[in-house]
Amino acid sequence: MIHLEQVSKSFEQQPILHNINMHIAPGEFAFLQGRSGSGKSTLVKLLYRELERDTGSITIDGVSIDKLAKYELRRKMGVIFQSFELLERKTVLENIVLAGQILGRDPDKMEAEAMRLLKRVGLEEKAHVLPTKLSGGQQQRVAIVRALLNKPKIILADEPTGNLDPETASEVLMLMRELREEEGVAMLVITHSQHLIETFAEKSWILKEGGVYERQ
Ligand SMILES: Nc1ncnc2c1ncn2[C@@H]1O[C@H](COP(=O)(O)OP(=O)(O)O)[C@@H](O)[C@H]1O
Ligand SMILES: [Mg+2]
Repeated sequence: MIHLEQVSKSFEQQPILHNINMHIAPGEFAFLQGRSGSGKSTLVKLLYRELERDTGSITIDGVSIDKLAKYELRRKMGVIFQSFELLERKTVLENIVLAGQILGRDPDKMEAEAMRLLKRVGLEEKAHVLPTKLSGGQQQRVAIVRALLNKPKIILADEPTGNLDPETASEVLMLMRELREEEGVAMLVITHSQHLIETFAEKSWILKEGGVYERQ
């Protein structure tokens, strides 16, 4: 479904990623590990075109991501971050629905879909509260719902459990694993945690000195 072929990226002549080849199948639960500064976030940003690669190709369902308008790409890829990135002055529901509004979708339909997903992750009663009233694990579940709202093909999760204690981290990943089955979405999870990779990964890579190596 997602193919990277010979993807490279440098910053100021400093190579960060060099000839990266990766493949993620539909519905796959894939993990990427690597030291701080190894280029993991850069790789994720190339996928959703927050940054542009220097060379190589990236395709989703056989179509180059360069051929898709940014909003089309954002519909195909949901993103989740370590810091949750929720708007503090908007309610949980507003935070979720806003993501779809930017993409021009029908507000009523989105609200119904957001409530369905909030119920699924056990946060139905938090729909109208501010995210600052929620625990870290709850905030990340809101961010997951927001990422799922547009029925993406894949969720890119850049250290989604980096701000969570180990138990909450496991719970969030268990939920993500269930949701990828139910919602038919692939996930690419970046984590430092060897434990989480051993527990959850169906496929994993390590990023090292600009190259990406699949673990067998
Ligand atoms: N926009 C940028 N401009 C210049 N250098 C950058 C930029 N983004 C990241 N870098 C550098 O690229 C390297 C990889 O960064 P990053 O992808 O954030 O690593 P990771 O997520 O694995 O910790 C780091 O050395 C970082 O300083
Ligand atoms: Mg990073």
